[in-house]
Amino acid sequence: MKGASEVLDPGLAPEGHRKIDWAARHSPVLNRVRDRYLKDGTFEGLGVGVALPIEAKTAYLTVVLAEAGARVAVASPGPFFVQDDVAAALAERGVAVYASSRNPPEEADRPLERVLDFALDGREAVLIDDRAGLGRLAHTTRRNLLPRVRGASEETTSGVAKFRAMEAEGALEFPAIAANDARCKYLFDNRYGTGQSTLTALMHSTNQMVGGKRVVVLGYGWCGKGIARYAAGLGARVFVCEVDPVRGLEAYADGFDVLPALEAAELGEVFVTATGSRDVLREEHFERMRDGAILANAGGVDVEIDVAGLRDASSEVREVRRNVEEFSVSGGRRLYLVGRGMVVNLTAGDGHPVEIMDLTFSVQALCARRLAREHRSMHLGVHLLPEEIDEEVARIKLQTVGMSVDSLTPEQERFLTTWRE
Ligand SMILES: NC(=O)c1ccc[n+]([C@@H]2O[C@H](COP(=O)([O-])OP(=O)(O)OC[C@H]3O[C@@H](n4cnc5c(N)ncnc54)[C@H](O)[C@@H]3O)[C@@H](O)[C@H]2O)c1
Repeated sequence: MKGASEVLDPGLAPEGHRKIDWAARHSPVLNRVRDRYLKDGTFEGLGVGVALPIEAKTAYLTVVLAEAGARVAVASPGPFFVQDDVAAALAERGVAVYASSRNPPEEADRPLERVLDFALDGREAVLIDDRAGLGRLAHTTRRNLLPRVRGASEETTSGVAKFRAMEAEGALEFPAIAANDARCKYLFDNRYGTGQSTLTALMHSTNQMVGGKRVVVLGYGWCGKGIARYAAGLGARVFVCEVDPVRGLEAYADGFDVLPALEAAELGEVFVTATGSRDVLREEHFERMRDGAILANAGGVDVEIDVAGLRDASSEVREVRRNVEEFSVSGGRRLYLVGRGMVVNLTAGDGHPVEIMDLTFSVQALCARRLAREHRSMHLGVHLLPEEIDEEVARIKLQTVGMSVDSLTPEQERFLTTWRE
């Protein structure tokens, strides 16, 4: 939506259109969801506020919703997650875009507030949120708009945790769906998506081999499992650090060594955090790391690596390759931080593979539709996506790759649900 948008350079649009067209061509699931469910009038005239990294796949989701009749506004959760050509193209495709890679990071809330102002301007809206950014602002600086929010669908593990914290305090004033917790989301997006794209970002940024390297994965949740799996597949020797003994045991059973981060700090050559927590790598770890160690964060919060502490401990910091900063620390050692310590597969890469986001955004579109239609009957708390919607997305995906699953026979169903047999 040209008039309403704020982008860096509208002249970049042609390349953005090419990227969005590629995403559209490789999103068969979302295309079927659109044809089957989104054209039923639910979105006609409804606002949709979106906070997601601005790249081709997210852009295509917003285009699909706009084509379904929604008044869509989108911003990125931060300027480092903005591809300016995609933002420019989106503005030409009927979406209000507030995103520029040059926006000051300290003013990251402003574009999100613009999204709320546009999406909720005289109408009700649903939110598709990332790290609960829109949800937080709707409950604070934009409380005046809160009564018109039908609900929010949350993309990330970290954001779901924030909405749950709001619910626990009794502060959440609309229903939220934990899109992240849909099986069609975390089993594929967090695991395979983060796994593949984190390794791609590391390889592309450093131009180094993975095979033979000692790669330390901190956090063995869905993301950590994916990163460990892809690193091992490329020949790395993988070490895992955890705080949950069951997850640690899982890593052990998957064939990896499990050890405390302080010990891992001394032997690792590449470190990747994926915990959703803060200061997972901090001064005491930096002090022990070898010369040349590579550090990256794949978790959803940008404080997993204490970058400020690393900066303080360094005599010099310089960019040595695109997306790679060299920190000169004690003993003449150099540590290399990829992607500024932010979500590395986005800041130093193209995000998840398109087929993964096709699944994730099919889930998101159906979450948004559910909130739009059923918000009145939903309590003010965090909801899971109903199992039948998750299964429908998986069934469509299987159809698109020419595969299918069986159904239970009536006898099997009875057998599984009765205790008398
Ligand atoms: N990079 C991406 O594209 C992407 C995609 C999906 C999710 N995420 C983010 O990645 C993070 C992890 O997501 P997930 O789905 O794997 O979550 P998860 O909850 O399944 O796993 C997190 C794991 O980290 C462990 N952990 C917590 N603190 C730790 C510490 N100090 N040291 C070691 N381990 C610790 C937990 O025990 C848990 O096993 C979240 O912030 C999420 O938002 C990123």
